[in-house]
Amino acid sequence: MRAVDIIIKKRNGYALSREEIEFFINGYVSGAIPDYQASALLMAIFLKGMDSRETADLTLAMVNSGERVDLSAIKGIKVDKHSTGGVGDTTTLIVAPLVAACNVPVAKMSGRGLGHTGGTLDKLESIPGFRVELDRDEFIAAVQAVGLAVISQSKGLVPADKMLYALRDVTGTVPSMPLIASSIMSKKIASGADAIVLDVKTGSGAFMSTVEESFDLAREMVNIGERLGIRTTALVTDMDQPLGMAVGNALEVKEAIEVLRGEITGPLADVSLTLAAYMLLTAGACRDVEEGRSMAEDSLTSGRGLEKLGDMIRQQGGDPRVLEDTSLLPGARTVIPVKAGQDGYISSMDTEKIGISSLILGAGRTKKEDPIDPGVGLVMRKRVGDRVSKGDILADFYVNNEEAFPEAADIFRAAVRIEAEKPGSRPLIFGAVTRDGIRHLGFKPE
Ligand code: URA
Ligand code: CA
Repeated sequence: MRAVDIIIKKRNGYALSREEIEFFINGYVSGAIPDYQASALLMAIFLKGMDSRETADLTLAMVNSGERVDLSAIKGIKVDKHSTGGVGDTTTLIVAPLVAACNVPVAKMSGRGLGHTGGTLDKLESIPGFRVELDRDEFIAAVQAVGLAVISQSKGLVPADKMLYALRDVTGTVPSMPLIASSIMSKKIASGADAIVLDVKTGSGAFMSTVEESFDLAREMVNIGERLGIRTTALVTDMDQPLGMAVGNALEVKEAIEVLRGEITGPLADVSLTLAAYMLLTAGACRDVEEGRSMAEDSLTSGRGLEKLGDMIRQQGGDPRVLEDTSLLPGARTVIPVKAGQDGYISSMDTEKIGISSLILGAGRTKKEDPIDPGVGLVMRKRVGDRVSKGDILADFYVNNEEAFPEAADIFRAAVRIEAEKPGSRPLIFGAVTRDGIRHLGFKPE
């Protein structure tokens, strides 16, 4: 087999065989196939696409390029959840304990903030003492002891994705459906879960900005999971504004705790309960999603979810007193309000810009090695559709570096659009894709 023949075949629009895909991925990871040929194949895939059989074969070849975590020592169906990235999206901290409180083990590997989106590991590390770097045995022991653990993705998973992603980044081939779907699913499958629930975000803060594209990505990833024997469900949910009110690490942990205490409802709680319901369903712990939803609600109202979060924090070396006293989390020296410049309705928010505003305050990284400031960020006081008068507070900014504030505030103000007309409402959860098909929720497709 020759790499050039595989490139030509894809360039001419033909489907590649499993053997050709394996040959190429193995050759690239071993160094036998150079970057320029891999770049050419990526561009051919970007332009000609891949069918679902090819995409699943590509995913499996990527999984097999590195280690695959063996969670078989943990009894039961281990379920994982993955979000395609959002702002103010603290669902993992809520959903993992709610599901674990229903006796379904959650063994989750998470990532750090990427671009304008927050990362679960950065949020967890704002809890004093919390350790995300557990080794394999500690990870399994933690899940066996308390039913859940959330740790850093181990370094040896899917080297093919690390190499291909770096090439895609500089060759204009990131936004390709089969390449995104295989990249995400290879990492989930390699981390050892038996069942996966994906939260595909749609809107101004998401990877996919249109609802149609988001459903296509959701379907593609469910296809991969099912072909590779992993039960997979994907929800499509709104990211046209931040999901919760808080954007920033400790601020988001505090908001998650308040949801688990039952003190706040709203979109963050609602998406979390729905994700938990689908995780229970996908893991086979209930007959239908309605039953899953009532199990998840019961975990919340009984306080068992909050207790589970406490168990996890203690197990991973953190201080569980943060659940009763959130002032033990890192804070900011000053709180500065950002106000509306005019009367009207909030008609839209540029979610990506809001993520960047918080990042500039120090909540995220502009370079890979930047430290983050766990205490800073912003808490919105208004959402899309709310009426505001000039001078009303739009958000409170939690600031340690006052020099960064003016730029962050300007970006935020530019991201929040105020108009005379009240905007139409937009669904929070667009639908769920399972192997049985699509269930549209809260909206009618064209
Ligand atoms: N997230 C990933 O992990 N991979 C992609 O290709 C896109 C988003
Ligand atoms: Ca993303």
